[in-house]
Amino acid sequence: MTPSSALDSRGSGFDESTPLARELADLTARRARLRGNALPRPRATRIFTVANQKGGVGKTTTTVNLAAALAKSGMRVLAIDLDPQGNASTALGVEHRHDTISVYDVIVGDAPLSDVVQKSPEFDTLWCAPATIHLAGAEIELVSLVAREQRLRTALNAYLQTAAERFDYVFIDCPPSIGLLTINAFVAATEVLIPIQCEYYALEGLSQLLRNVDLIEKHLNPELTVSTILLTMFDGRTRLANDVADDVRKHFPEQVLGSVIPRAVRISEAPSHGQSVITYDPNSPGALSYLEAAGEIARRGDAA
Ligand SMILES: Nc1ncnc2c1ncn2[C@@H]1O[C@H](COP(=O)(O)OP(=O)(O)O)[C@@H](O)[C@H]1O
Ligand SMILES: [Mg+2]
Repeated sequence: MTPSSALDSRGSGFDESTPLARELADLTARRARLRGNALPRPRATRIFTVANQKGGVGKTTTTVNLAAALAKSGMRVLAIDLDPQGNASTALGVEHRHDTISVYDVIVGDAPLSDVVQKSPEFDTLWCAPATIHLAGAEIELVSLVAREQRLRTALNAYLQTAAERFDYVFIDCPPSIGLLTINAFVAATEVLIPIQCEYYALEGLSQLLRNVDLIEKHLNPELTVSTILLTMFDGRTRLANDVADDVRKHFPEQVLGSVIPRAVRISEAPSHGQSVITYDPNSPGALSYLEAAGEIARRGDAA
């Protein structure tokens, strides 16, 4: 459309015909739908591991924003940061200096999770167990420990059983590798959530990830299933993103959420303010998409 034709259509008063006006109307409708929708509480605590051994696919962003989106709806949510980078801790605004007591002390030492969990300033019902850089050494330190694959599970179960009020959701943010930290997350969880970036080689490594989940299920955690796949960083203008999304839906029709997370600047800006996009820009398309995805997760779990 040329600038003058855009002006013409605005001047005519029928501005629903411009792409911008349509987009605004669409956002308004999505916001209204989200406002009217209370989420069902799960019957038991749902524990998700957010995993994909590729880096930069949106694991941390998804952990933080789904946790915040569910907490915004009044769910009691715990996010566990298992990545030594500590990016989830940063985005949830909790302290994680090198001397902060952290998930490292739980997994390698014998600290209870209750000593480590901090309340996130984001929402009243959101907590975070932070990661510190010490976690980088944990892969090696874990090797010689007894029941090295079970350490997070044991600590998490003890914590969930003694918590004053029941948690509805736990999200565990994994590092981009399949080492002992990620294995601890798989053993502690009941559900795996895989974020898939709608870009080149999206499916590369996925079969290896699924094989690993199978192995864990057979040998260490019979309850584990890949329940959820979320398409992230979607750019609907590109043919590639649409092809990747179609391909993933074809292979995993049951698991892929209908909601798709767009590539959006506000999503990437939020962590530098120590925030999720849910509080940083609650009406932005990125926040709405994560709120919609959280709603789908809550309703699917309810039906299960
Ligand atoms: N939907 C999105 N739109 C724009 N940027 C995003 C989006 N999701 C993630 N990012 C950015 O992409 C980078 C990688 O995301 P991240 O969640 O850290 O991936 P991972 O945890 O898998 O390594 C980060 O800089 C993050 O802010
Ligand atoms: Mg990450």
